[in-house]
Amino acid sequence: MPGKHQAAVLPSAGSPLSVIDRDTPEPGPDEVLIETKAIAVNPVDYYQRDFNRPPVPFYPAVLGEDVAGVVVKVGSNVSNALAPGSRVLAFASSFYQNGSPDHGAFQKQTLAGSERVAPLPDRLSFEEGAILPLAVLTALSAYTTLGIPLETKYTPNEKQAILIWGGSSSVGSLAVQSAKTMGFTVYATAGAQNLEYVKTLGAKAVFDYKASDVVSQIANQAKEDDVILRTAHVCVENALQQTLDVLRLTKGDGPAKVAHAPLLPEDMPTLEGTEIKFTFPPTDPEERNKHIYKCFNIWLKDGLSSGTIVPSPRIQVVPGGIGGLNDALDTLKAGVSGTKLVVSV
Ligand SMILES: NC(=O)c1ccc[n+]([C@@H]2O[C@H](COP(=O)([O-])OP(=O)(O)OC[C@H]3O[C@@H](n4cnc5c(N)ncnc54)[C@H](OP(=O)(O)O)[C@@H]3O)[C@@H](O)[C@H]2O)c1
Repeated sequence: MPGKHQAAVLPSAGSPLSVIDRDTPEPGPDEVLIETKAIAVNPVDYYQRDFNRPPVPFYPAVLGEDVAGVVVKVGSNVSNALAPGSRVLAFASSFYQNGSPDHGAFQKQTLAGSERVAPLPDRLSFEEGAILPLAVLTALSAYTTLGIPLETKYTPNEKQAILIWGGSSSVGSLAVQSAKTMGFTVYATAGAQNLEYVKTLGAKAVFDYKASDVVSQIANQAKEDDVILRTAHVCVENALQQTLDVLRLTKGDGPAKVAHAPLLPEDMPTLEGTEIKFTFPPTDPEERNKHIYKCFNIWLKDGLSSGTIVPSPRIQVVPGGIGGLNDALDTLKAGVSGTKLVVSV
């Protein structure tokens, strides 16, 4: 007889999440079973709950991607680094497992392939670990989407700069940190209340996106710093036009590249000589797993253990545990500022 655990499931399209008991699954040979201690929420979770976007393949569904917790059981191929009892964070997403509800984050026990599980250093809380997985994967996938290898380390002589539009968002905060580690001179935008915070994450200069002259401010700064600004990551909606306006002023005759984390708008603006791509991990499953392994088992593991990467943005715990996930999604939908919402389990 399998054990049981609590899960917040989506019973049908457009309904609220409902807490039920599910059978606890056994891990496959390359998988880890995690007892979740903290779960973070992302915009895609309420897009799926409220608008079935991207479509949920079957119900009841277990949504979510971001967990931190303790390893309970491992499959036969999993290394000792993830032995039972280890503190970990994981990208636990049913989206990448054909909708399998055993692999979603919104439950007290979840499965994840070992390539998407990273050790959580003792000095970090479970809440700090839970805010990272999807944002890290998205921030790093921007580079590979644009053909920039994750191993890239620019030297100051190469004068490579990047614009991160939306540096106080969850994805943007990791985009700023990752760009800094790759040697880019980082320019970012944020609301006035978050300018200083985003600077602490490694941006050279942060600009208030509500300023009427924000485009010329950024272009002038790049000129003053004598850097090459032809790369951008748009991390929030409704910011592609302004990003292209900056690149128009900074790219010169060279080609420019933009990764766009939100879905590309249908009436997408364009700029001559500029490639604009939706930020996404590789679509081929084998390539994707290799990429995910690099993101979690190399980049994030090393970054967290050395302290060059810190959990970001700030954390707000929504009360209620698993039962608080509906409220967390409603609060996120209403809008957050430089904050990631988490439930403690
Ligand atoms: N492609 C993918 O695989 C993927 C994965 C994850 C997320 N996403 C998408 O990426 C987007 C961001 O997700 P998230 O979780 O990072 O969002 P989030 O943290 O909820 O975003 C909130 C932040 O957005 C900032 N913001 C809003 N409008 C802005 C603007 N015009 N300019 C600059 N900043 C602005 C706000 O800044 P202030 O408060 O400072 O004003 C706030 O801090 C969403 O559309 C999400 O669906 C895509």
